[in-house]
Amino acid sequence: MGVVWCIGCPGAGKTTLARSIAAQRARSTGRKLLVVDAEGDANFRALPMGSTVSELPKLLVEHNAVSFDAMNAGKQELRRLPTFIERAGRLVVLVDGAHAVLDAHSSAGDVWVRLQRVHRHAELELIWTTHHLGGDVPQVVQACAPELYVFRTTSPAALKTLEREFGLEASRVRGLERGKYIKVEMGFSAGA
Ligand SMILES: Nc1ncnc2c1ncn2[C@@H]1O[C@H](COP(=O)(O)OP(=O)(O)OP(=O)(O)O)[C@@H](O)[C@H]1O
Ligand SMILES: [Mg+2]
Repeated sequence: MGVVWCIGCPGAGKTTLARSIAAQRARSTGRKLLVVDAEGDANFRALPMGSTVSELPKLLVEHNAVSFDAMNAGKQELRRLPTFIERAGRLVVLVDGAHAVLDAHSSAGDVWVRLQRVHRHAELELIWTTHHLGGDVPQVVQACAPELYVFRTTSPAALKTLEREFGLEASRVRGLERGKYIKVEMGFSAGA
């Protein structure tokens, strides 16, 4: 059980890996999968979709995997969603496009950060993807010693953050091919 982050530039392969980790964890734990889809990824188009939190209980009873339309949901719904997830518990949650929900300066962002801290208690698996490694995301990432999969990254600011926070060499991260990543765990780094 735990928290997973997939970080890297657009098209690097984050959602593909996140989806496969999420599906595997849902299978092995027998838990339902909730995809918080902030990017409208084609990967999730086949899933039954809710756009309000009140639709989710019924959808989750009827299906093993559902998505939440975070792209079109209002701020109010995005604020209610993590509270719903924490109360429901025992879910695998994939947030595809973390920056959309993690506005660190909003109270909604705080509730999502809290979810990371309480994931064990609530028996949640949390899998995040982001290509936006700015603002307070590094602090959020480190809030609970997650498994981190770093894909190709090119922005100088993001490379600097990865080097400073996780000791990853910029030239190595910039040179990763599509679908390739460096796995970082609790301060250790191992190539993949
Ligand atoms: N391991 C891999 N080997 C080869 N191709 C891959 C691999 N992983 C992903 N791809 C392909 O690369 C493309 C981009 O993958 P994906 O959508 O997972 O990237 P992403 O990092 O989530 O991009 P975005 O930030 O735009 O959402 C897809 O066409 C996918 O099929
Ligand atoms: Mg993606």
